[in-house]
Amino acid sequence: MQSLLGHQPALVLKGCRFRLSNLTVAILGAGKIGSIMARSFSDCGIHVIATARSRERIEKLRMQGFEATSDNVYAVEKASVVFISVKPYQYPALAWQIGGHVSGKPVVSVMAGIPLRVLRKTLPGAEVYRAMPNLNAAVKRSATGLVAPSNAQYKELIKSILSCMGSVYELPEQLIDAWTAVAGSGPAIIAEFIDSMILAALAVGIPRDLAYDAVLESIIGTAEYLRTRPVHPAQLRDEVTTPGGTTIMALKIIEGKGMKSALIDAVEKATARARKLAREIEERIEEQHENSGAS
Ligand SMILES: NC(=O)c1ccc[n+]([C@@H]2O[C@H](COP(=O)([O-])OP(=O)(O)OC[C@H]3O[C@@H](n4cnc5c(N)ncnc54)[C@H](OP(=O)(O)O)[C@@H]3O)[C@@H](O)[C@H]2O)c1
Repeated sequence: MQSLLGHQPALVLKGCRFRLSNLTVAILGAGKIGSIMARSFSDCGIHVIATARSRERIEKLRMQGFEATSDNVYAVEKASVVFISVKPYQYPALAWQIGGHVSGKPVVSVMAGIPLRVLRKTLPGAEVYRAMPNLNAAVKRSATGLVAPSNAQYKELIKSILSCMGSVYELPEQLIDAWTAVAGSGPAIIAEFIDSMILAALAVGIPRDLAYDAVLESIIGTAEYLRTRPVHPAQLRDEVTTPGGTTIMALKIIEGKGMKSALIDAVEKATARARKLAREIEERIEEQHENSGAS
């Protein structure tokens, strides 16, 4: 840790978290998720150097108050920790630029589908991690999956940085595609459910604004209830369900239309899709890496 931070003495454990205020982090490819990460990290006191290719995006990042550049090598060399958030197909070109400059540094990829094995090969000497945040990072409520290498030296530091976006859960690498389906696609699935509930509320005559509040508050409240009490969701359901009452009528219809099996099917299909994309990306990257003459 000493060598990584050099003269940055402010990085000390506080409780079980690091003080991050003297840390410089590079975010290579600060597009949609990268700029959300930049905001979260910056709010934690981290100095962020964000990169992009286009002048427009760099200007936008500067307007948001970040140091921004198209020079990935400069960003890597200035930073103690490097995050990569380009699209997977954009990665080979980036790896080609920075591959010789990351040795000894922790590098965290948030790209879907690129395994540690390929990251290690293309970023020689770096300590590589994979992380999968979700869109809720924008409100500091990401459920971020983290895959750390064995004998990781910088894991606690990386967890501290990622926790600027919300909660962090360590996973074995074989679960990352499933995590992408559940937590990555989760906000979209839940948004679809919220939209359906709002339409249902409109159907029974609740005005739109009230419907929106009723649905959102019920979802937030139910999540909070389950989070803070040791109650299984089925137990909560049974507590609400009076014999012969209104809830059982609703549950009967939901059961008949197969909501649970639709959701299980949806997540299984999304996981299979993530795995297939991962295989395709890996093949393409291996091919490009070999064609580029790198070993
Ligand atoms: N979006 C999500 O919710 C989410 C969640 C978790 C993980 N991810 C992962 O995050 C990655 C990015 O997704 P995204 O939705 O944020 O994509 P995006 O908005 O397209 O962002 C990618 C950014 O990378 C920049 N870029 C591309 N090549 C570059 C290079 N060689 N040097 C510097 N910058 C470069 C692009 O710059 P220009 O704009 O200038 O071309 C763009 O701003 C993907 O791998 C995805 O799997 C996304």
